[in-house]
Amino acid sequence: MSKIGDWIDKRTGLGGPIRGFLNYPVPKYVHQNVLYILGGLTLIMFMLQAVTGIMLAFYFDPSPEGAYNSVDFITYQLPLGWLIRGIHHYGSGAMVILVALHMLRTYFFSAYKKPREINWLTGVLLLFVTLAFGFTGYLLPWDQKGYWATRVGTQIAGSVPLIGDTLMQLMRGGPNLGQATLTRFYATHILLLPAMIALLIAVHIFQLRYHGMSPAITEKSKAQSKSFVPFFPYWVLNDAIAGLGLLALLVFLSATQRAPLEFPADPTSGNFVPRPEWYFLFYYQALKYVPGALEPVATVLIPLFIFGSMILLPFIDKGEERRPWKKPVTTIAAIFYIVVIIGFTVLAL
Ligand code: HEM
Repeated sequence: MSKIGDWIDKRTGLGGPIRGFLNYPVPKYVHQNVLYILGGLTLIMFMLQAVTGIMLAFYFDPSPEGAYNSVDFITYQLPLGWLIRGIHHYGSGAMVILVALHMLRTYFFSAYKKPREINWLTGVLLLFVTLAFGFTGYLLPWDQKGYWATRVGTQIAGSVPLIGDTLMQLMRGGPNLGQATLTRFYATHILLLPAMIALLIAVHIFQLRYHGMSPAITEKSKAQSKSFVPFFPYWVLNDAIAGLGLLALLVFLSATQRAPLEFPADPTSGNFVPRPEWYFLFYYQALKYVPGALEPVATVLIPLFIFGSMILLPFIDKGEERRPWKKPVTTIAAIFYIVVIIGFTVLAL
């Protein structure tokens, strides 16, 4: 192995950078805190999505006539198709949960503060790209729930003042949902978003390595911040064990409950109640409370306010204090959002 390594190193010069990457010193307070696994676990989840997604693409037929049957074939006839689709389906929900938990960890540890602003900003974009994966993937099986949820989702985009119509046309590829919509959603799902997420993850990880982990916040962890362990095998092993546990959970879910597939999309069935994937339910519920005239408030102002405050956060909260219990404003704001999102989701369920 070492001879092969030497041979490759002499020709590529990659040996040094790879050794540097693997030997990177990880502070003990990071290695010993399970909350720091969440970012790596999100990365593992993304890799699982990429692998299972490529496998699904070999059998998926991106046309309104063929999409449903191809997904039905994958789920019920293709050997182990149920497993691959199950991991991809449950994995999309797991990825949203992991991204959200990882974001909360970095938020409560004030890891967005100087000089890690770009780390946080790429993170915010990663959150939105993850949600966009969910939104575009939902339509692909071309079943009733995907079809009707996408109709409503694109209608919501259509209610944006001034540019709404153009936005809706752009998403649908015409006035109604059809082949053009499916092609656009598929291209976004398998080409545009993967390219964006790969680039964002690369910048995110590079930033992480450039600045190192944000400082310890408790006295106990501060005491451990002078001792280090190498990234490989210590942190890699932690993440690998957690990743195997996650995979086992996804296999279990896929085996006990097949990934859902409803009746084929029927544009004429007027009585189908549209409902989005569970992680968009809170928004769907919130829209119910908004009277028609105020729709732009819910579809434009509130999302813009949330996105804007996430982007501005590192430039507003610039103080030295990092302990959440000493920062009531940011802590209470986050708890408020968590309660609202969980509360609305439960109500919608
Ligand atoms: C695909 C999504 C993402 C991946 C793969 C990812 C990956 C990672 C990894 C591996 C780490 C180091 C380990 C850790 O802190 O857990 C990290 C750190 C960080 N992430 Fe992410 N992340 C993602 C999304 C996000 C989001 C949504 C945010 C916030 C909006 C975010 C903000 C940060 C920050 C600020 C750090 C630095 C933490 C520190 O220095 O303590 N990330 N990320």
